[in-house]
Amino acid sequence: MRHIIKSQQFTKSFIDSLFKTADLLEESIETCLEKKVMATLFYEPSTRTRFSFESAMLRLGGNVLTTENAREFSSAAKGESVEGTIRVVANYADVIVMRHHEEGAAHRASLVSPIPVINAGDGKGQHPTQALLDLYTIQRELGTADNITVGMVGDLKYGRTVRSLSYLLGKYKGVNIVFISPQALHIDSDITSYLNRHNIIYREQEDLESALPQIDVLYVTRIQKERFSDQALYKKLKNSYRLTPSLVENMKKQSIIMHPLPRLDEIDPAVDNLPQAVYFKQARYGLLVRMALLKNIFQNGH
Ligand code: CP
Repeated sequence: MRHIIKSQQFTKSFIDSLFKTADLLEESIETCLEKKVMATLFYEPSTRTRFSFESAMLRLGGNVLTTENAREFSSAAKGESVEGTIRVVANYADVIVMRHHEEGAAHRASLVSPIPVINAGDGKGQHPTQALLDLYTIQRELGTADNITVGMVGDLKYGRTVRSLSYLLGKYKGVNIVFISPQALHIDSDITSYLNRHNIIYREQEDLESALPQIDVLYVTRIQKERFSDQALYKKLKNSYRLTPSLVENMKKQSIIMHPLPRLDEIDPAVDNLPQAVYFKQARYGLLVRMALLKNIFQNGH
């Protein structure tokens, strides 16, 4: 696989093989990327994605070039285009991991890049490697992604992780999705059209509590202040949901609670120690999946 831009590009056989590699790398890390260089270009803040990619590359024996804040400390601050930067950075690295505030920026980068580009989040567009680690978490914790009910709650309009995970879940059998959000943050119609085409059953509702007893995977997301042009609307919506231990009592014992993180007030920290809470494990699984992805990219000729 050359560039990693959107979840729709992954086949089930690719995902199965990637997850087998992630399992093997958990048992024993290989230093298979010696002399390879990864550049991380992040135009938006990140903790997990940037550090887990960088840790993955270093653990596999490779090297990392990075700029802490590409919007401020790369020549983007002087007005250089994404395309211009990518053409130059491609001379210094073997793979580029890029996060950008504009939807479609990773695709634009891939059109001019002679080396693989990995989309680490493009505005409200997609975050395909997050979707892979989310799916890996589901399979590791529940044993399967088939025949499950997934509740996605929070900012479904601007949440790229929800969008990318929905596209991936569309590839699995018997998946039922409950989209839980305020009216103003509904999931976009490109996702619901895709789910309709793939015969995935979904429904949309505002209330969280009534959905909890049926749910196998509760995927909680933050209301994203940085995406709102109307800050008064953000203030009105930011406390729409808060998952507490007493709400978790309505969930199945074997269900799991996920969150791409960072978490603000939408999950009470008292939930962290409940058996259903797997969001910190999810961040750990991200390291395994990103190691597997980097190994796959270079083993397939790049
Ligand atoms: N889940 C995620 O993308 O986290 P970061 O913004 O910290 O990378």
